[in-house]
Amino acid sequence: MKVLVIGQGGREHALCWKLKNSPSVERVYCAPGNAGTASDATNVDIGATDIERLVKFAKSERIDLTVVGPEASLVAGVVDAFVAANLRVFGPTKKAAELEASKIFSKELMRKANVPTAEYRSFTRHQDAMMYLEEREETPLVVKADGLAAGKGVFVCEDRPQAVEAIKQIMLEQAFGASGSKIVIEECLVGHEASILAIVDGNTILPLEASQDHKRAFDNDNGPNTGGMGAYCPTPIITSELMDEIVEKVLVPTVHFMSIEERPFKGCLYAGIMVTNQGPKVLEFNVRFGDPETQPVLMRLKSDFGLMLKAAADGTLADFGPAEWDPRPAVCVVMAAEGYPGTVKKGAVIRGLDQAAMIDDAKVFHAGTSLQNGKVVADGGRVLGVTALGADFSEAKLRAYQTVKCIRWQGAWCRKDISDRARSYAVASPE
Ligand code: AMP
Ligand code: GLY
Repeated sequence: MKVLVIGQGGREHALCWKLKNSPSVERVYCAPGNAGTASDATNVDIGATDIERLVKFAKSERIDLTVVGPEASLVAGVVDAFVAANLRVFGPTKKAAELEASKIFSKELMRKANVPTAEYRSFTRHQDAMMYLEEREETPLVVKADGLAAGKGVFVCEDRPQAVEAIKQIMLEQAFGASGSKIVIEECLVGHEASILAIVDGNTILPLEASQDHKRAFDNDNGPNTGGMGAYCPTPIITSELMDEIVEKVLVPTVHFMSIEERPFKGCLYAGIMVTNQGPKVLEFNVRFGDPETQPVLMRLKSDFGLMLKAAADGTLADFGPAEWDPRPAVCVVMAAEGYPGTVKKGAVIRGLDQAAMIDDAKVFHAGTSLQNGKVVADGGRVLGVTALGADFSEAKLRAYQTVKCIRWQGAWCRKDISDRARSYAVASPE
């Protein structure tokens, strides 16, 4: 097969790399890609939401399968355009992507489908939200902008003044533009978070192994929220019994109700789960692969990924069988640019990538990089996702950080404790 991956981040580099290593795949293109996809695929200079040119390219190159990475492309309707042009595509339609694009839609669907999630109320008027806050005794509370906000539209508020401020920023100051014209206020859940990615063909669900990301910027989960500073797979908190429960109580009813709502879900369904004392509850749905979770998850996948995604696009996932996994855990450490998650410095030349590439069982996935005069430069906030396998979490972590040590550029930094949480769970609850 000839495959096209749409997007340009670390997730897309991991998708390209795994597809390139699939026996069923002959050639991989990436639009627009980054400096890393340039070596594992052929970059095509078309933006991830330039629908017309993407369709034209897929037709002229006779692409057999297109895999859409970012939510922005899905919400823009890339999948709808490919389907209309009779091109095979992996990802949800615009209507199905609403599961991520509108938190209110997603909460209402969960209510109808009886999927466990935080209690919530939604508001379209500022004064109604304020009145609700006045009446509520209990804090903390979580305030969320309804629409897409690049992972920044969620405020976990310890007390009422913080909630008032969050509502003001979202609704009055429009910090996220139109995404904040409606909000959700919900109960704050306590527990351990995990990311469940599942490949879905409209009916059949193929869950991938569970992973966990580190959302806070600094060590020991301090500092501001980010897109994710690292991730690991599997996560000891998701036992096989818990995974069965998540499939039964979350994934199956969600996929079923999406069909009832005439928005059949095809693509990667990402459930952000909080494992609470009352069992697993959904924090949010995404309609795409997680970033950086995809990097350690795909590092462990042994099945033919090209065939898996083709089967999902064709609606024949039931015939594909369960996925096969490398038993070794994988750890991904994000190397970020100076200033991230605020304004970052771009343009520094990255050195040491050749040395890093010589380490066995490690792979440097590029996220925010580009090629300038033949040199790889930092071109984003999260720059690289250094991912390694090991016999256990200690070895995978050690190998990932050994690889990190080979790489340098001015202002580069990373968290030092990625995957320590996994080891603390393993000690706390031996199986
Ligand atoms: P979301 O974009 O909805 O996943 O939210 C981003 C992060 O905010 C999550 O990964 C959680 O850490 C946190 N969060 C979201 N909703 C809740 C909730 N109801 N209770 C506690 N934490 C939450
Ligand atoms: N790592 C969180 C996300 O992909 O949304």
